[in-house]
Amino acid sequence: MFPLSPLSAEAVMTSPPRTTPAGKPLLEIVGIDKSFGSTQILKCCSLEVHPRETVVLIGPSGSGKSTLLRCVNLLEPADEGNVFFRGEDITRDLRNAPRLRREIGMVFQNFELFQHLSAAENIMLAPMKVLGLSRADAHDVALDLLKKVHIPAKADSYPDELSGGQQQRVAIARALAMKPALMLYDEPTSALDPEMIREVLDVMAELSAEGMTSIVVTHEMGFARRAADRIVFMEAGEIVETAKSDAFFGGTVNARAQRFLEQILH
Ligand SMILES: Nc1ncnc2c1ncn2[C@@H]1O[C@H](COP(=O)(O)OP(=O)(O)OP(=O)(O)O)[C@@H](O)[C@H]1O
Ligand SMILES: [Mg+2]
Repeated sequence: MFPLSPLSAEAVMTSPPRTTPAGKPLLEIVGIDKSFGSTQILKCCSLEVHPRETVVLIGPSGSGKSTLLRCVNLLEPADEGNVFFRGEDITRDLRNAPRLRREIGMVFQNFELFQHLSAAENIMLAPMKVLGLSRADAHDVALDLLKKVHIPAKADSYPDELSGGQQQRVAIARALAMKPALMLYDEPTSALDPEMIREVLDVMAELSAEGMTSIVVTHEMGFARRAADRIVFMEAGEIVETAKSDAFFGGTVNARAQRFLEQILH
Protein backbone atom coordinates (compact mmCIF):
# COMPACT_ATOMS: atom_id res chain seq x y z
CA MET A 1 0.00 0.00 0.00
CA PHE A 2 1.18 3.53 -0.76
CA PRO A 3 1.77 5.80 2.22
CA LEU A 4 -0.82 8.52 2.59
CA SER A 5 0.37 11.82 1.19
CA PRO A 6 -0.26 14.89 3.37
CA LEU A 7 -3.08 15.80 0.98
CA SER A 8 -4.92 12.49 1.03
CA ALA A 9 -4.60 12.30 4.79
CA GLU A 10 -7.06 15.19 4.83
CA ALA A 11 -9.83 12.84 3.77
CA VAL A 12 -9.99 11.49 7.28
CA MET A 13 -9.89 14.88 9.01
CA THR A 14 -13.00 15.99 10.83
CA SER A 15 -15.14 18.91 9.69
CA PRO A 16 -13.35 22.23 9.95
CA PRO A 17 -14.53 24.97 12.26
CA ARG A 18 -16.53 27.38 10.09
CA THR A 19 -16.85 30.32 12.40
CA THR A 20 -14.50 33.02 13.60
CA PRO A 21 -14.71 34.02 17.27
CA ALA A 22 -16.38 37.46 17.60
CA GLY A 23 -13.95 40.35 17.25
CA LYS A 24 -11.07 38.12 16.15
CA PRO A 25 -9.35 38.40 12.80
CA LEU A 26 -10.25 35.78 10.23
CA LEU A 27 -6.63 35.77 9.16
CA GLU A 28 -3.64 36.80 11.22
CA ILE A 29 -0.16 36.81 9.76
CA VAL A 30 2.47 37.31 12.44
CA GLY A 31 6.06 38.09 11.56
CA ILE A 32 6.53 35.72 8.66
CA ASP A 33 9.84 35.31 6.87
CA LYS A 34 10.32 33.45 3.62
CA SER A 35 13.53 32.83 1.69
CA PHE A 36 14.17 31.19 -1.64
CA GLY A 37 17.71 29.83 -1.48
CA SER A 38 19.83 32.48 0.17
CA THR A 39 17.51 35.34 -0.84
CA GLN A 40 15.10 36.53 1.79
CA ILE A 41 11.84 37.44 0.06
CA LEU A 42 9.49 38.15 2.98
CA LYS A 43 10.82 39.99 6.03
CA CYS A 44 8.80 39.82 9.19
CA CYS A 45 5.44 40.49 7.51
CA SER A 46 2.42 40.92 9.76
CA LEU A 47 -1.16 41.55 8.74
CA GLU A 48 -4.61 41.02 10.23
CA VAL A 49 -7.70 40.65 8.09
CA HIS A 50 -11.05 40.78 9.82
CA PRO A 51 -14.26 39.17 8.59
CA ARG A 52 -15.95 41.21 5.81
CA GLU A 53 -12.83 43.30 5.20
CA THR A 54 -11.30 43.91 1.79
CA VAL A 55 -7.57 44.57 1.87
CA VAL A 56 -5.77 45.74 -1.26
CA LEU A 57 -2.10 44.82 -1.44
CA ILE A 58 0.13 46.96 -3.65
CA GLY A 59 3.85 47.32 -4.21
CA PRO A 60 6.57 47.20 -6.87
CA SER A 61 7.20 44.08 -8.92
CA GLY A 62 9.22 41.57 -6.92
CA SER A 63 8.26 43.06 -3.55
CA GLY A 64 6.74 39.75 -2.41
CA LYS A 65 2.99 40.25 -2.87
CA SER A 66 2.36 36.90 -4.56
CA THR A 67 4.65 35.12 -2.12
CA LEU A 68 2.70 36.56 0.80
CA LEU A 69 -0.58 35.27 -0.67
CA ARG A 70 1.02 31.90 -1.32
CA CYS A 71 2.10 31.64 2.31
CA VAL A 72 -1.51 32.23 3.35
CA ASN A 73 -2.93 29.25 1.50
CA LEU A 74 0.18 27.14 2.05
CA LEU A 75 1.29 27.02 -1.55
CA GLU A 76 4.55 28.16 0.06
CA PRO A 77 5.03 27.47 3.75
CA ALA A 78 6.58 30.39 5.64
CA ASP A 79 10.02 29.77 7.17
CA GLU A 80 9.47 31.76 10.37
CA GLY A 81 6.48 33.39 12.00
CA ASN A 82 2.91 32.19 12.02
CA VAL A 83 -0.28 32.28 10.02
CA PHE A 84 -3.51 31.91 11.98
CA PHE A 85 -6.81 31.22 10.25
CA ARG A 86 -9.86 31.51 12.51
CA GLY A 87 -7.41 31.60 15.40
CA GLU A 88 -5.81 28.28 14.45
CA ASP A 89 -2.09 28.14 13.65
CA ILE A 90 -1.93 26.72 10.13
CA THR A 91 1.57 27.87 9.26
CA ARG A 92 3.50 24.79 8.37
CA ASP A 93 1.27 21.75 8.74
CA LEU A 94 0.53 20.70 5.17
CA ARG A 95 -2.33 18.55 6.40
CA ASN A 96 -4.18 21.85 6.68
CA ALA A 97 -3.70 22.60 2.98
CA PRO A 98 -6.76 20.84 1.51
CA ARG A 99 -9.09 22.30 4.11
CA LEU A 100 -7.61 25.75 3.59
CA ARG A 101 -8.03 25.50 -0.16
CA ARG A 102 -11.73 24.88 0.48
CA GLU A 103 -12.00 27.84 2.80
CA ILE A 104 -9.68 30.15 0.90
CA GLY A 105 -10.49 30.77 -2.77
CA MET A 106 -7.67 31.92 -5.01
CA VAL A 107 -7.94 33.71 -8.34
CA PHE A 108 -4.85 34.09 -10.50
CA GLN A 109 -3.84 36.43 -13.27
CA ASN A 110 -4.15 33.78 -15.96
CA PHE A 111 -7.53 32.25 -15.00
CA GLU A 112 -6.17 28.66 -15.04
CA LEU A 113 -9.45 27.14 -16.24
CA PHE A 114 -9.56 23.59 -17.55
CA GLN A 115 -9.73 24.08 -21.31
CA HIS A 116 -11.51 20.77 -21.99
CA LEU A 117 -14.37 21.59 -19.60
CA SER A 118 -17.25 24.01 -20.16
CA ALA A 119 -17.72 27.01 -17.88
CA ALA A 120 -20.30 25.10 -15.83
CA GLU A 121 -18.13 21.99 -15.64
CA ASN A 122 -15.15 24.03 -14.44
CA ILE A 123 -17.30 25.30 -11.58
CA MET A 124 -18.89 21.90 -10.84
CA LEU A 125 -15.66 19.98 -10.49
CA ALA A 126 -14.66 20.81 -6.91
CA PRO A 127 -18.19 20.74 -5.43
CA MET A 128 -18.60 17.22 -6.89
CA LYS A 129 -15.15 15.91 -6.00
CA VAL A 130 -14.53 17.64 -2.69
CA LEU A 131 -17.99 18.36 -1.29
CA GLY A 132 -19.61 15.23 -2.74
CA LEU A 133 -22.45 17.08 -4.50
CA SER A 134 -24.41 15.20 -7.15
CA ARG A 135 -23.92 16.28 -10.74
CA ALA A 136 -27.40 17.83 -10.80
CA ASP A 137 -26.84 19.78 -7.58
CA ALA A 138 -23.39 20.93 -8.69
CA HIS A 139 -24.93 22.07 -11.99
CA ASP A 140 -27.50 24.15 -10.09
CA VAL A 141 -24.68 25.71 -8.05
CA ALA A 142 -22.77 26.51 -11.25
CA LEU A 143 -25.79 28.17 -12.88
CA ASP A 144 -26.43 30.30 -9.79
CA LEU A 145 -22.80 31.40 -9.69
CA LEU A 146 -22.70 32.18 -13.40
CA LYS A 147 -25.70 34.45 -12.77
CA LYS A 148 -23.83 36.06 -9.89
CA VAL A 149 -20.87 36.89 -12.13
CA HIS A 150 -23.24 38.14 -14.84
CA ILE A 151 -22.68 35.50 -17.51
CA PRO A 152 -25.70 33.21 -17.08
CA ALA A 153 -25.79 32.31 -20.78
CA LYS A 154 -22.23 30.96 -20.88
CA ALA A 155 -22.68 27.72 -18.94
CA ASP A 156 -21.99 25.51 -21.94
CA SER A 157 -19.21 27.60 -23.46
CA TYR A 158 -15.64 26.38 -23.35
CA PRO A 159 -12.86 28.71 -22.16
CA ASP A 160 -11.61 29.36 -25.70
CA GLU A 161 -15.10 30.57 -26.62
CA LEU A 162 -15.06 33.16 -23.83
CA SER A 163 -13.40 36.57 -23.59
CA GLY A 164 -10.65 37.02 -21.00
CA GLY A 165 -13.04 38.94 -18.77
CA GLN A 166 -15.61 36.16 -19.01
CA GLN A 167 -12.98 33.51 -18.30
CA GLN A 168 -11.84 35.38 -15.22
CA ARG A 169 -15.43 35.61 -14.02
CA VAL A 170 -15.77 31.83 -14.46
CA ALA A 171 -12.59 31.47 -12.38
CA ILE A 172 -14.12 33.65 -9.67
CA ALA A 173 -17.33 31.60 -9.79
CA ARG A 174 -15.27 28.41 -9.53
CA ALA A 175 -13.58 29.71 -6.38
CA LEU A 176 -16.95 30.77 -4.92
CA ALA A 177 -18.39 27.30 -5.48
CA MET A 178 -16.53 26.08 -2.40
CA LYS A 179 -18.20 28.81 -0.31
CA PRO A 180 -14.84 30.20 0.82
CA ALA A 181 -14.48 32.39 3.89
CA LEU A 182 -11.62 34.33 2.28
CA MET A 183 -10.83 35.20 -1.32
CA LEU A 184 -7.30 35.89 -2.51
CA TYR A 185 -6.92 37.60 -5.87
CA ASP A 186 -3.46 37.88 -7.41
CA GLU A 187 -3.55 40.59 -10.10
CA PRO A 188 -6.82 39.24 -11.49
CA THR A 189 -7.14 41.86 -14.22
CA SER A 190 -3.56 42.39 -15.32
CA ALA A 191 -3.83 39.93 -18.22
CA LEU A 192 -7.03 41.51 -19.52
CA ASP A 193 -7.67 44.00 -22.29
CA PRO A 194 -8.69 47.36 -20.82
CA GLU A 195 -12.34 47.05 -21.84
CA MET A 196 -12.70 43.82 -19.85
CA ILE A 197 -11.08 44.98 -16.65
CA ARG A 198 -14.13 46.84 -15.43
CA GLU A 199 -16.53 43.88 -15.64
CA VAL A 200 -14.22 41.74 -13.49
CA LEU A 201 -13.58 44.50 -10.96
CA ASP A 202 -17.33 45.14 -10.73
CA VAL A 203 -17.94 41.50 -9.77
CA MET A 204 -15.15 41.66 -7.17
CA ALA A 205 -16.50 44.93 -5.75
CA GLU A 206 -20.01 43.43 -5.54
CA LEU A 207 -18.64 40.46 -3.62
CA SER A 208 -16.77 42.78 -1.25
CA ALA A 209 -19.91 44.84 -0.71
CA GLU A 210 -21.75 41.64 0.19
CA GLY A 211 -19.14 41.03 2.88
CA MET A 212 -16.76 38.58 1.22
CA THR A 213 -13.46 38.89 3.09
CA SER A 214 -10.78 39.48 0.47
CA ILE A 215 -7.13 40.24 -0.11
CA VAL A 216 -6.59 41.69 -3.56
CA VAL A 217 -3.24 42.26 -5.19
CA THR A 218 -4.00 44.89 -7.80
CA HIS A 219 -2.81 48.20 -9.10
CA GLU A 220 -6.33 49.21 -10.09
CA MET A 221 -6.60 52.16 -7.75
CA GLY A 222 -10.17 52.92 -8.81
CA PHE A 223 -11.12 49.52 -7.43
CA ALA A 224 -9.07 50.15 -4.29
CA ARG A 225 -10.87 53.44 -3.65
CA ARG A 226 -14.24 51.85 -4.26
CA ALA A 227 -13.89 48.52 -2.49
CA ALA A 228 -10.92 48.48 -0.12
CA ASP A 229 -11.21 49.01 3.61
CA ARG A 230 -7.43 49.08 3.94
CA ILE A 231 -4.45 49.39 1.64
CA VAL A 232 -1.22 47.57 2.39
CA PHE A 233 1.98 48.68 0.68
CA MET A 234 4.87 46.23 0.36
CA GLU A 235 8.41 46.98 -0.69
CA ALA A 236 11.43 44.67 -0.82
CA GLY A 237 9.66 41.98 1.18
CA GLU A 238 8.41 44.25 3.94
CA ILE A 239 5.00 45.61 4.75
CA VAL A 240 5.89 49.27 4.82
CA GLU A 241 2.44 50.79 5.27
CA THR A 242 -1.01 49.66 6.29
CA ALA A 243 -3.57 52.42 6.06
CA LYS A 244 -7.31 52.82 6.02
CA SER A 245 -8.37 53.48 2.47
CA ASP A 246 -9.50 57.08 3.24
CA ALA A 247 -6.19 57.95 4.88
CA PHE A 248 -4.22 56.34 2.06
CA PHE A 249 -5.99 58.26 -0.67
CA GLY A 250 -6.17 61.36 1.51
CA GLY A 251 -2.40 61.64 1.23
CA THR A 252 -1.37 60.84 4.79
CA VAL A 253 0.73 57.88 3.73
CA ASN A 254 4.32 56.87 4.10
CA ALA A 255 6.59 58.71 1.64
CA ARG A 256 7.66 55.56 -0.23
CA ALA A 257 4.06 54.43 -0.58
CA GLN A 258 3.13 57.91 -1.79
CA ARG A 259 5.88 57.81 -4.44
CA PHE A 260 4.69 54.42 -5.63
CA LEU A 261 1.10 55.62 -5.76
CA GLU A 262 2.13 58.63 -7.85
CA GLN A 263 3.99 56.35 -10.26
CA ILE A 264 1.05 54.05 -10.86
CA LEU A 265 -1.47 56.87 -11.12
CA HIS A 266 0.52 58.76 -13.77
N1 LIG B 1 9.61 29.85 -6.29
C1 LIG B 1 10.52 30.81 -6.27
N2 LIG B 1 11.83 30.54 -6.29
C2 LIG B 1 12.77 31.51 -6.24
N3 LIG B 1 12.47 32.83 -6.18
C3 LIG B 1 11.19 33.18 -6.18
C4 LIG B 1 10.14 32.20 -6.22
N4 LIG B 1 8.96 32.84 -6.20
C5 LIG B 1 9.25 34.16 -6.14
N5 LIG B 1 10.57 34.35 -6.13
C6 LIG B 1 11.26 35.66 -6.04
O1 LIG B 1 10.71 36.33 -4.94
C7 LIG B 1 10.59 37.72 -5.19
C8 LIG B 1 9.19 38.15 -4.90
O2 LIG B 1 8.35 37.55 -5.87
P1 LIG B 1 6.78 37.75 -5.87
O3 LIG B 1 6.28 36.98 -7.04
O4 LIG B 1 6.22 37.44 -4.54
O5 LIG B 1 6.68 39.32 -6.13
P2 LIG B 1 5.44 40.21 -6.53
O6 LIG B 1 5.43 41.37 -5.60
O7 LIG B 1 4.22 39.36 -6.60
O8 LIG B 1 5.85 40.72 -7.98
P3 LIG B 1 4.94 41.00 -9.28
O9 LIG B 1 4.30 42.35 -9.06
O10 LIG B 1 5.94 41.07 -10.41
O11 LIG B 1 3.95 39.89 -9.41
C9 LIG B 1 11.05 37.94 -6.62
O12 LIG B 1 12.37 38.39 -6.59
C10 LIG B 1 10.96 36.56 -7.23
O13 LIG B 1 11.90 36.40 -8.23
MG1 LIG C 1 2.97 38.76 -8.12
